[in-house]
Amino acid sequence: MERTLILLVVSALMVFVAPGVRGTGHLSFANNTQVNITRDGCGVSKLCVETPDDCDPSSNKTCLFASVIASTPMAPSGSNLTMQLRGYSMGYVALGLTQNASEGTTMLFVCAQNTSNNGSFFFRTRMRNNTNGDLSPTERRVREIRGMVEDNIIKCEFEVPEANATSMRNSAATTFAILLGTGSLNGNMLDSFNVTLNSGRLNLADPTSNVPTTMAPSTMTTPDSGSNGVYPHAVLLLLSVLSLPVVLGA
Ligand SMILES: *[C@@H]1O[C@H](CO)[C@@H](O)[C@H](O)[C@H]1NC(C)=O
Ligand SMILES: *[C@@H]1O[C@H](CO)[C@@H](O)[C@H](O)[C@H]1NC(C)=O
Ligand SMILES: *[C@@H]1O[C@H](CO)[C@@H](O)[C@H](O)[C@H]1NC(C)=O
Ligand SMILES: *[C@@H]1O[C@H](CO)[C@@H](O)[C@H](O)[C@H]1NC(C)=O
Ligand SMILES: *[C@@H]1O[C@H](CO)[C@@H](O)[C@H](O)[C@H]1NC(C)=O
Ligand SMILES: *[C@@H]1O[C@H](CO)[C@@H](O)[C@H](O)[C@H]1NC(C)=O
Ligand SMILES: *[C@@H]1O[C@H](CO)[C@@H](O)[C@H](O)[C@H]1NC(C)=O
Ligand SMILES: *[C@@H]1O[C@H](CO)[C@@H](O)[C@H](O)[C@H]1NC(C)=O
Repeated sequence: MERTLILLVVSALMVFVAPGVRGTGHLSFANNTQVNITRDGCGVSKLCVETPDDCDPSSNKTCLFASVIASTPMAPSGSNLTMQLRGYSMGYVALGLTQNASEGTTMLFVCAQNTSNNGSFFFRTRMRNNTNGDLSPTERRVREIRGMVEDNIIKCEFEVPEANATSMRNSAATTFAILLGTGSLNGNMLDSFNVTLNSGRLNLADPTSNVPTTMAPSTMTTPDSGSNGVYPHAVLLLLSVLSLPVVLGA
């Protein structure tokens, strides 16, 4: 236990700016609670990303949907992100926050069904190596986790406190690309994360920041592609790595 913890802490420190790391292993929850996820407030009070475009998470089975409400960032701790995620999977659905989906790392928030326990819900955080797709355990404080699974539709909501997308350059603390995708479970292990949507960099604090929307699932970009007008906020960030404070509460 002690050893695992130390390894986790070391790997977390190597990748994330960590003012303090404590706690034990990954989070896991098994309480099914009612979770309602709708488009109400999309583009007004919450930022929504989804695939297929404009799909309705309350009625369309295959709709992979996420919404984010970011509190006004306060230095130096950043912003609290209230997230909702909903998708269809026999294994897990996940939301990733990154700066560039093809390099560095992605902080991955995973909502899954435990098929060996009657489809009960559980939650994990993982760090994804964007170069080779490896998923590794990581410490990230997450609170207010709620989830449910019904007919392989996984719905969850959670809050990520004190997110700060710091980079080598000045940028909004709330500028992240959101990745949505699914994966299968191999027993208790997560198989690789299959990215089905890459939002491109968005200001999570601006519910309209992805209007006009959509982008191909991969980030094949030219070095100056941030200035093509599709993602106004992309211009703000160039070379950077995801750098979330890694603080795990009790
Ligand atoms: C979710 O929706 C159902 C049906 O509309 C409703 O009965 C329930 O109270 C709602 N739950 C929450 C937490 O809003
Ligand atoms: C779900 O969304 C897809 C894509 O928008 C659409 O083709 C399909 O008809 C929708 N299904 C339902 C049941 O609304
Ligand atoms: C984000 O982190 C940077 C560097 O750690 C800090 O200077 C900045 O004030 C933080 N911003 C917010 C909004 O917390
Ligand atoms: C984030 O949430 C914590 C605890 O609720 C609160 O103390 C803090 O002020 C919030 N931060 C922001 C930037 O809203
Ligand atoms: C599995 O879950 C369903 C729906 O929640 C419930 O009706 C059923 O009794 C459960 N089965 C077992 C074996 O726990
Ligand atoms: C990601 O994988 C690549 C290739 O295996 C490796 O060179 C790199 O160090 C890894 N990055 C992290 C942050 O683990
Ligand atoms: C990844 O997703 C795509 C599109 O949904 C699907 O065609 C493909 O089979 C998936 N790959 C894996 C390994 O699950
Ligand atoms: C993302 O990373 C790739 C590979 O390192 C790089 O070619 C590309 O320019 C980066 N994109 C942005 C917008 O920084």
